[in-house]
Amino acid sequence: MCGIVGYVGQRPASPSSRPVDVALQGLARLEYRGYDSAGVAVLDGSEVRVAKAKGKLKNLRGVLEGQDVPTSAVAIGHTRWATHGAPTDENAHPHLGGKDDELALVHNGIIENFAALRTSLEADGYTFRSETDSEAAAHLVAREMQRTGDLTLALRAAAVQLEGAFTLLAIHRDQPDRVVAARRNSPLVVGLGEGENYLGSDVAAFVDNTREALEIGQDQVVTVTADDVAVTDFEGTEVTEKKQYTIAWDVAAAQKGGYDSFMAKEIHEQATAVADTLRGRIDSGALHLDEMSIDESVLRSIDKIIVVACGTAANAGNVAKYAIEHWCRIPTEVELAHEFRYRDPIVTEKTLVVAISQSGETMDTLMAMRHAQEQGAKVVAICNTYGSTIPREADAALYLHVGPEIAVASTKAYLGQITACYLLGLYLAQVRGNLFPDEIAALMEDLEQLPAHVQTVLDGAGAVEELARSMKDTTSVLFLGRHVGYPTALEGALKLKEIAYIHAEGFAAGELKHGPIALVDEGQPVFVIVPSPRGRDSLHSKVVSNIQEVRARGARTLVIAEEGDEDVLPYSDVVLRVPATRTLFAPLLTVIPLQIFSCALAAAKGLDVDQPRNLAKSVTVE
Ligand code: F6R
Repeated sequence: MCGIVGYVGQRPASPSSRPVDVALQGLARLEYRGYDSAGVAVLDGSEVRVAKAKGKLKNLRGVLEGQDVPTSAVAIGHTRWATHGAPTDENAHPHLGGKDDELALVHNGIIENFAALRTSLEADGYTFRSETDSEAAAHLVAREMQRTGDLTLALRAAAVQLEGAFTLLAIHRDQPDRVVAARRNSPLVVGLGEGENYLGSDVAAFVDNTREALEIGQDQVVTVTADDVAVTDFEGTEVTEKKQYTIAWDVAAAQKGGYDSFMAKEIHEQATAVADTLRGRIDSGALHLDEMSIDESVLRSIDKIIVVACGTAANAGNVAKYAIEHWCRIPTEVELAHEFRYRDPIVTEKTLVVAISQSGETMDTLMAMRHAQEQGAKVVAICNTYGSTIPREADAALYLHVGPEIAVASTKAYLGQITACYLLGLYLAQVRGNLFPDEIAALMEDLEQLPAHVQTVLDGAGAVEELARSMKDTTSVLFLGRHVGYPTALEGALKLKEIAYIHAEGFAAGELKHGPIALVDEGQPVFVIVPSPRGRDSLHSKVVSNIQEVRARGARTLVIAEEGDEDVLPYSDVVLRVPATRTLFAPLLTVIPLQIFSCALAAAKGLDVDQPRNLAKSVTVE
């Protein structure tokens, strides 16, 4: 939610390698974090120059076209997801600060005490031009710069006066060789180059230029010049233990690679994604989770698991519940992270909290996890973005390793999250002795088949795309599933809502007769996720009955069923096949046609598949 970039360096002044171009390149990579407006700031001698425009980055490029942009040593940029103030040119970042516009600042997060700060700054003669909370930070840093004469000291002094969440990047005309940044509860990474350095909300901002990155911790200030990166805490104490790492993916991973959208590309990367999440964690049928840094004795003592997550990640958690309870016999709750904290949840030292987050920066999930830690619970983070806040603050972190997910709608991370949850469940079962080693080995063997099965489903994408195109004028779609098919139904509905703007609802199929069946009339499309006929007891036949019930009321039944399941044929208008697998593993397969369907339908409607309206990839505000 909001992307910020910074650059310091002196490249040859060719038209495409000015600092402003480096900033624009970074913003293009971060646009998925928000696209309500974009802006950049550079220094022009003793003047701070800002260009900004509401709407997508291309509008800003239009504004800059033909402009004689100065080649200063620094540039900062911002792509916005609006919180305070409408998405207008005035509310776009960077914001100028100071009585003489001597500073420019970009901000990601929410400054909760901005109203009080604004009153104090206005009383001191600072003029506000926007409705944003961020402009208060710009003037505050300018006022502190006036007092201290040094941008690093000014950022530190300002940071301790701010309440809420922020990453701030500032440039000032009196110190034209540097970008200074501060962070609390919002992400910030530094990219290390040769005679040039970068800042970004995540590494995608600079991966075109360098793969060496430095994590910036909570409540730290970083001063970046072309040749130096100095990190202190808010009190000014130098941070000596800095975490530097090499980014594991390259720029090709952040490009569309021939697909029409990032979402389409990421859907088609899912066989590799599942394989990558499994890689290195299974050896001769045994499970090795070296990163599970929570003591085995603690894991043996836990009596409850609470999964906290939002959106798609919560749907992955709902799949995890079925698997973990079945294998480990530990009561497992799944709670939307934003609800968790406010209901006085029962959390003890024997509770294991699993925080699932692709971005690792979702504020609701982070706050839920901190709340649990305060009460003595241990937290395992299941995340994709290396070095992000949630895995850093967790007691143990399981990374997905599925590569960058750029499309706002989550797909390959969802499969990675479910896979990681299976690994966690089996690991707990192994440590606690709930399953025999040969049972675990058999499960692992089947799990290792999943990438090939995922590929089989992807190979059938054409038929699903055709179905989607034929339904582009549909206004409502229902999704039904039982057991692990239920979270799949929820995920199918979420995908369709968020990128195709179609009313869609997912239901537990058994709930149908308790109300939702009233929605079904002639021609209503209903996706039904059918469990394996070889699965548990009567689950399969119950779902087949549900297909009949909606069909009897006129529904058009779009059925996702295992290869060879003939029972569904008499009641299905369309059957989409997935390979046979264990019931608990089926969510890795049955969701794929639903992802393809939403992606193709949104594209057929001419919508922006990767950047749906009102959304942002990383929700870093509560
Ligand atoms: C939907 C989607 C969102 C995210 C949710 C949590 O496609 O992407 O629902 O799953 O905002 O985000 P993370 O996983 O980054 O915590």
